[in-house]
Amino acid sequence: MDLKLVGKTAIVTGASEGIGKAIAMGLAHEGVDLAICARRAGPLEATAELIRRETGRKVYPITADLTNPADAEAFIHAAAKALGRIDILVNNAGSAPGGTLDYLTEEHWNQSLQLKFMGYVRCTKHTIPYMIKQGGGRVVNLIGNDGLKRSYWEIAPGAANAAGQNFTIALAGQYGRDNISFCAVNPGPVRTERWAGLVQAMARDMNISVEEADKLAPASIPLGRIAETEEVADLVVYLASPRAHFVNGTMIEIDGGQQKDLMDRARDR
Ligand SMILES: NC(=O)c1ccc[n+]([C@@H]2O[C@H](COP(=O)([O-])OP(=O)(O)OC[C@H]3O[C@@H](n4cnc5c(N)ncnc54)[C@H](OP(=O)(O)O)[C@@H]3O)[C@@H](O)[C@H]2O)c1
Repeated sequence: MDLKLVGKTAIVTGASEGIGKAIAMGLAHEGVDLAICARRAGPLEATAELIRRETGRKVYPITADLTNPADAEAFIHAAAKALGRIDILVNNAGSAPGGTLDYLTEEHWNQSLQLKFMGYVRCTKHTIPYMIKQGGGRVVNLIGNDGLKRSYWEIAPGAANAAGQNFTIALAGQYGRDNISFCAVNPGPVRTERWAGLVQAMARDMNISVEEADKLAPASIPLGRIAETEEVADLVVYLASPRAHFVNGTMIEIDGGQQKDLMDRARDR
């Protein structure tokens, strides 16, 4: 299938590692020029260079901390200037700390909402005027199945995800007349650089060993494994393409059919 992405431009946030890096690479392989951000310049520039080398596309690495409103705004304007237009925005930078109610501090909650929710709000707000001016665009938000498949050990990501899902669908109602469409992608567990840390947090919150915690997520997924970053990226690349423009105001799960309550039952055994 020709995704009709050749010559398009995209912003991908949090693209130096993990799912964002795989999405950026996937889009570049389809002929998209990119502006990408992260906080640390070293890994960001290394990823930009890798993508340029593998795909020959233009990649602009711009450091930004999206928990900071001024950084988020400056990033979008710098990206628009470098790329000339913004056809696609992929909001992706968004980890939120797991943990139970007693463990989570005010700072944890703030951290979750400032990045995973307000980071998306800020980047979207500053991108929309460019998309309106150029006659349309596409926003794909990486959210997470915690927003729908709730668990007591991931309430902060769950709240931030639910807010992001609501935001995504609500904006589709407002900006369709400007030819801007929105959708959310809800991954379950994905093997990224931070997976080991997530397993350790799960062991802490469920009072089980790290070895036991490591088996919980695969055991809750009928396919018996967690996702690889490229599997999520393949879906996002399709959704970012003009072929999927009509997939609007909705969200798609990519979690192998995870039954999250099985994780809790496994702990009780
Ligand atoms: N991995 C999973 O299992 C999973 C499951 C469900 C949903 N998701 C969602 O999928 C998205 C991607 O997740 P991920 O696991 O690949 O990792 P992530 O931790 O969300 O993203 C890592 C990338 O974001 C950058 N980043 C982190 N904090 C940032 C900040 N304040 N400002 C700008 N950039 C920042 C990191 O670089 P720096 O550290 O240099 O800033 C890195 O490039 C997230 O929205 C996440 O919630 C992931």
